[in-house]
Amino acid sequence: MRGPHRQLLAALLPTLVLLLATSLPDPAAAVRAEPPRPPPSPPPYALQLMMGLYPNHEWTTPVLASDEPRGQTWGPNSRNSTPHIPFTLAESDEDLIQLYDENLELDLAPWRRRNRSEVTVARLFELAERLPGKASQRMVLIKGGRLALLMQNSNSGPMLECEKPCDPVLDDLITDLRIWVAQSPQEWPDAVFFLNTADTSLCQAPGEGKRRSKTSLGPCPVPVLSLVKEWERHRDEDILVPITVGMHKAKPLYYFPWKKKIDRAIFRGTEYCHTRQYGYAPDTCSRTYFAHMTHLNPDWARFVDVGMVDNYTTRAPDGGSQVIPARGFVPMPELARFRYTLALDGITASSRLARLLSLNSVVLKQTSPWIEWYYRSLVPGTHYLSFWNHHRTDLLQVIKYVRHKSKYLVDVATHGQQFAYRYLLPNARRLYWRRVLHEYVKVFADMDEYVAKQVIPAGASA
Ligand SMILES: *[C@@H]1O[C@H](CO)[C@@H](O)[C@H](O)[C@H]1NC(C)=O
Ligand SMILES: *[C@@H]1O[C@H](CO)[C@@H](O)[C@H](O)[C@H]1NC(C)=O
Repeated sequence: MRGPHRQLLAALLPTLVLLLATSLPDPAAAVRAEPPRPPPSPPPYALQLMMGLYPNHEWTTPVLASDEPRGQTWGPNSRNSTPHIPFTLAESDEDLIQLYDENLELDLAPWRRRNRSEVTVARLFELAERLPGKASQRMVLIKGGRLALLMQNSNSGPMLECEKPCDPVLDDLITDLRIWVAQSPQEWPDAVFFLNTADTSLCQAPGEGKRRSKTSLGPCPVPVLSLVKEWERHRDEDILVPITVGMHKAKPLYYFPWKKKIDRAIFRGTEYCHTRQYGYAPDTCSRTYFAHMTHLNPDWARFVDVGMVDNYTTRAPDGGSQVIPARGFVPMPELARFRYTLALDGITASSRLARLLSLNSVVLKQTSPWIEWYYRSLVPGTHYLSFWNHHRTDLLQVIKYVRHKSKYLVDVATHGQQFAYRYLLPNARRLYWRRVLHEYVKVFADMDEYVAKQVIPAGASA
């Protein structure tokens, strides 16, 4: 999630949490002793619009934000039901082995095959100098439980803050890393690494011919750490790391009684369009295409509700234009009121997938070459249902095929939540990051030697 969208979420979330908390019948909420609150404010405009679209929905039943797993049928009368699929937290490296094997190990494999004496810190700096110095990219140094940022031209010394322009996603990640390494310095290796939080990868696999995009470096001589990459026909060689933005604001799990959910597939977001083309949908942007179909085609509108945050103007083949009216921004937890949520690519992978998995709804995910650090452990048909496998309209067939299989749908929703609970909470992300860095430094010939010579200046934030 990027830009104004995220700011809006930040602005709306406190109101929403307040709304939920004040109307919650659950005694657990009362246990969290909080100061008296002002009366709830009216729901934001987008929610009001949604209430108009679904007047028969039980809007007075709140979405429950929960630290603990509950039964899928959770509702006012079945509060104590426990999930029929076991939920466990990943609390150590051992609990995360499968995630490491299915994701990190694949990212490391090409680097472990390299001639180690050619993977050097000097080459890492050479690579950084070829990049234009973007707000979303920094060279990061960790030493003795402290973190600093290095200038790409190595003339000036280490800095403690991410100086402007600094992408908020990068800034959040640096803040979390700094806290993590300071908490347990001995658990973190000393390392210097290039961190890329842009919406794209940097390192394509060798032997893939011409560069695929302006932002790609081509094959990299040394690894960089990125948030997304392509993993299909092209296998980018970036090492993927978890994002942390928004992580602390979200609750681990959200619930809404399955039987009361609105029988639609919901999406609210901005009209970002992916940069890769698909054989069956060469110029189709999933977000705007589905918004278009929701607006114009009653057969689609019965099953799918895709709305853009802002008014969106489409161009018709005859040169005319048509405005698809805005449906506004809806805070993520409110999407739990729907049976299905849609995971549609933004420019590349969308970090909202982790949030969608935490709602007890079925995630319908667009098949896409873009992945984040954990995607290779997600099993279609188990943790989510996939579409865009054959045709740009196949979403409708998927929904029509499963919609009466309630038991299966509840299982998919529960498996999705179970995955999010085990692998996507802040502590699991911290462990994954730590593992990445321990393995990353081993790929270099001279990492210890380089870091031993570095000095991080004393400073208030250290
Ligand atoms: C590895 O790289 C070094 C330095 O370029 C070179 O001297 C050495 O022969 C290479 N080893 C192999 C097995 O290619
Ligand atoms: C969308 O357009 C309508 C009609 O022009 C306008 O009233 C409304 O404020 C616009 N909504 C947004 C979110 O821009």
